[in-house]
Amino acid sequence: MIGADKNPIIVEAKNLVKTYFDKGVETRVLKGVSLSVRRGEFVAIMGRSGAGKSTFLYQMSLLDHPTSGAVFFNGEEITDLPAKKQAAFRLNKLGYVFQDYALIPELTASENIMAPLLMQGMTMPLAKMKAKQGLARIGLENKVDNLPSGLSGGEQQRVAIARAVTHEPDIIFADEPTANLDSYSAKMVLDLLIELNKNGQTIVMVTHEEEYGALADRIVRLSDGQVV
Ligand SMILES: Nc1ncnc2c1ncn2[C@@H]1O[C@H](COP(=O)(O)OP(=O)(O)O)[C@@H](O)[C@H]1O
Ligand SMILES: [Mg+2]
Repeated sequence: MIGADKNPIIVEAKNLVKTYFDKGVETRVLKGVSLSVRRGEFVAIMGRSGAGKSTFLYQMSLLDHPTSGAVFFNGEEITDLPAKKQAAFRLNKLGYVFQDYALIPELTASENIMAPLLMQGMTMPLAKMKAKQGLARIGLENKVDNLPSGLSGGEQQRVAIARAVTHEPDIIFADEPTANLDSYSAKMVLDLLIELNKNGQTIVMVTHEEEYGALADRIVRLSDGQVV
């Protein structure tokens, strides 16, 4: 977003280290990665397969816990919050988009968007209205009652994005949101993310496609668990 470089830092990852121990073998996947993201920024995280992009995104977005290092949100550490508070924080403040869409197969497009809203305590009629508006915004108002199996990959990802933003999260984390899509659907998904960002949505997106990374305000490159 234009001018986002003057906005306050919303999320800051400091010196994140992630080490996996597997059958006595230690693998250091993140070797001290730091990143500050300002409100309204669209940051792309790029790098080769196995560079640690997903691992970094998961630590930064509270989906996993780093071996060491910390994440700050509006200046306050969130990595040390108790699990229950972290779960509430994820639900209320953060939005997630995954490569495989991660929609609930038994729920319709509308119900998938409603689920997190209901978990936040929103009333059924209001959640229904929000889901309808969300689907209209992405041009899928006629697919309200479709199950994910009745949607194309691109449509599923757009529903997943609608689900990720309907509760107005402070930041969305997207891990290779276009990796499974044909170029036409990928472009629609990116156009949607760019439009959200133009309206002020802060976005951190992992991608290995240079063409898509170039659309972000800033590219952070990871190689072998480090920023390069
Ligand atoms: N749970 C795990 N246990 C052990 N190694 C892992 C685990 N998750 C990821 N890794 C390793 O960490 C490295 C980085 O993985 P990842 O973050 O998924 O990379 P990227 O998203 O950049 O392709 C890879 O070498 C991968 O094999
Ligand atoms: Mg990955």
